[in-house]
Amino acid sequence: MDLSVRIGELLMPNPVGAASGVFGYGEEYEGLVDIDALGALYTKAVTPEARAGNAAPRLADTPAGMLNSIGLANPGLDAFIADKLPALRKRACAIVVNVAGKTEDDYLRVVEGIEAEEGVDGYEINVSCPNVAHGGMAFGVDCALIERLTRRLRDAADAGAKARARSGGPSARRPIIVKLSPNVSDITASAKAAEAGGADALSCINTLVGMVIDLKKKTPTLAMKTGGLSGPAIRPVGVAAVYRVSRAVALPVIGLGGIGCADDALQYLLAGASAVQLGTAIFARPEAPADTLAGIRAFMEAEGLERVAEIAGLLR
Ligand SMILES: Cc1cc2nc3c(=O)[nH]c(=O)nc-3n(C[C@H](O)[C@H](O)[C@H](O)COP(=O)(O)O)c2cc1C
Repeated sequence: MDLSVRIGELLMPNPVGAASGVFGYGEEYEGLVDIDALGALYTKAVTPEARAGNAAPRLADTPAGMLNSIGLANPGLDAFIADKLPALRKRACAIVVNVAGKTEDDYLRVVEGIEAEEGVDGYEINVSCPNVAHGGMAFGVDCALIERLTRRLRDAADAGAKARARSGGPSARRPIIVKLSPNVSDITASAKAAEAGGADALSCINTLVGMVIDLKKKTPTLAMKTGGLSGPAIRPVGVAAVYRVSRAVALPVIGLGGIGCADDALQYLLAGASAVQLGTAIFARPEAPADTLAGIRAFMEAEGLERVAEIAGLLR
């Protein structure tokens, strides 16, 4: 049985990854789960400068999910390279760095900085960040911007691969995976823009904008007022997005949003995803990715399938 998934030149050992923002840089789960058994570890966002994130409270419970406004809390590019990358480099799973910024140049600085380093297998571009040059509107709502940003990052990663090859290092062309926001009127338009810019794959979906109001205080529960809704509540939105996006573009699509077990993941794989990620579910059950992979394997055995990609063909 072949569980591997190819995303451009990156070969993931299996289709089950840990989503950005719920798995830190891996060290937080050391000893708790077998990190090397993941298909891929998508890191917490990396921005050029260190960021403390948003004011608390920044988490709220919701029916069948949670709301977060963590912001892009992270140690910054230099500290990521100095303190986090050495341990990540030793991992057997694919390491995909989630990239974020306030401006296009921020994203570019992160990719260029990491291109000089070994031990990273790809980039996931979080276009849900507010763009300060455009009044704080998310990058992901502007198709022209998605296309331009994707092209600039693809060019930077191509230049990085060539430079590594010249110096005798590993020359793999790292994939640019654009992580789409569901907070748009037509997610297939965002997908086509990323494809036009040269993306190698797409992740679908990031969180949905939500608000919880505290009735006693008569204020929004989160200090930031709104946050990102994740967990089982958003699964049908994610499955529909993957179904539509995988039919609109020729790129591999990585599905996420509310996956907590194999049955959830199989919905995404049947909808057309090449791979999946687990996010919120990992907080409650760190073993959920391993169980999910075991369940996918059992499904493939029962259906007599040899490759994960064959699952999508079963949808009637
Ligand atoms: C606490 C928290 C932090 C997150 N941080 C990031 C992030 O830094 N970058 C990003 O692209 N997505 C981030 N996400 C979004 C998740 O990666 C994922 O797209 C979303 O939560 C939907 O998946 P889920 O329902 O399985 O959690 C975060 C989600 C949560 C819950």
